Amino acid sequence: MAPIASKMPGNDYESCSSHNGNSGDHNLSNGNVVNGTTSNSINMSAATNFTITPCQIKAPLVVIIVGLPFRGKSFAAHKISRNLFWKGEDVKVFEVEEKTSEETLKYITEWFETGHNVAIIDGMHLTKQDRSIVGKYCRENVYHHLIIEFECEERCVEENIKDTAQFYQKVDNNQDWLQTFREKNAKYKNQFERCSPHEGPLINVTNSENVLIHSVKARGVQGLLQTIILGVLSAPVIKNRTFFFSRHGESEFNVLGRIGGNADLSSRGRKYSENLAKQLGGPGSNPNGPKPRLIWTSELQRTIHTVQNIPGPRTTLKDLNEINAGICEGLTYEEIQERFPQEFAWRDQDKLKYRYPLGESYLDLLQRVDGVVQALLLNTDVLVVSHQAVLRCILAYFKGSSPEEIPYVNVPLHTLLIVKSYGYDFKIETVPLKVECVDTYRIQPANCSIERTAADALKTVPAHFDAPIIN
Ligand code: F6P
Repeated sequence: MAPIASKMPGNDYESCSSHNGNSGDHNLSNGNVVNGTTSNSINMSAATNFTITPCQIKAPLVVIIVGLPFRGKSFAAHKISRNLFWKGEDVKVFEVEEKTSEETLKYITEWFETGHNVAIIDGMHLTKQDRSIVGKYCRENVYHHLIIEFECEERCVEENIKDTAQFYQKVDNNQDWLQTFREKNAKYKNQFERCSPHEGPLINVTNSENVLIHSVKARGVQGLLQTIILGVLSAPVIKNRTFFFSRHGESEFNVLGRIGGNADLSSRGRKYSENLAKQLGGPGSNPNGPKPRLIWTSELQRTIHTVQNIPGPRTTLKDLNEINAGICEGLTYEEIQERFPQEFAWRDQDKLKYRYPLGESYLDLLQRVDGVVQALLLNTDVLVVSHQAVLRCILAYFKGSSPEEIPYVNVPLHTLLIVKSYGYDFKIETVPLKVECVDTYRIQPANCSIERTAADALKTVPAHFDAPIIN
């Protein structure tokens, strides 16, 4: 799908096979090209023309997007960018119309020189000549290079044209956008020279919302980043998606300021579960209101009980369980400070990387929920009821937050979050359901040193009812 939203802001040791680019005359059928060697079906004289230049560990990656207009290029470029950014890569999409200019290459060089590592060039690059400029740039600088070529079912192209025209028509009604875009599509058709694997590692995507038609072919893809990109592209594009997210209703542990555990809902938490059901097709709901098609909860009773009045097929997923606080499970923040002051300070110093002894870190959680996010993206109208830390990690994908921001994303109790796709972007609507509850959000205190006083360590702990002492 063509871009319809405003633009979003935003290794492993391996060798970098640089292909010499003079590929046109080689006899090539469906063969894989891996590290400059070829499978049997490639004429071996072609193979001898490959040169292999070792890339530095963590060498930057340039992704070049190829294809006619309205083939879903920008959608995919931004989907890749969002996924890599969420995984902690320094990635940026560089928009070009027809091909990459010297000026864009200069920006990309600056981007890499300032410590970033992935550049995605979103443009048509229809001819071999257009693409060879980027290929040469990558070879000269010894950067990894990946070409992604997009095709699209004819029906899908027409739908993309209509969607884009509809969007533009709302902004400017003085032009016939449908006609303009149909002409644009026709204009470039004859210029397109299909990509050959001799131009560099290549992924070819045939876009379709139909899972049976959507297809991805890869040749010469290597290393972690390129493999992640391959995975991102393998999912068919679903254009209009809605997801519902909520934490469980207030639990008996929340009331007491205790973390983790498997406590049940408080009476206010049960009230929230009734109100949530009213919003999502349960008793007392508006018959025309939203109804989730799937309900996913953690395995813990506070999430399962939160959705008990909402109709729909439900699944419990271990990956949605709250962060495992290891030796601190069941304690209040005050008790953690008293028993393990050093651990408490270390967590405040680097909450993303800090792993509770015998438990988990936010980085661990990010890995754990990757599969859940990928599964969500294959669906729509899913309700996910989970926990503070886990929802921070999942919502970060849709918000476009960096990993460093994740441990402090605010996900309040008793609030429904509705996430809707908007082109390649997402919009998040926050709906507080107005059932009183405690606040469990603790901001990073000013003093994170291990020598700090208990008063300094506890300064930002949210108010809660007194917890009976646990021995
Ligand atoms: O306090 C509720 C809770 O879900 C705990 O079970 C969990 O340990 C905590 O939030 C995670 O939040 P934070 O990482 O800010 O401590």
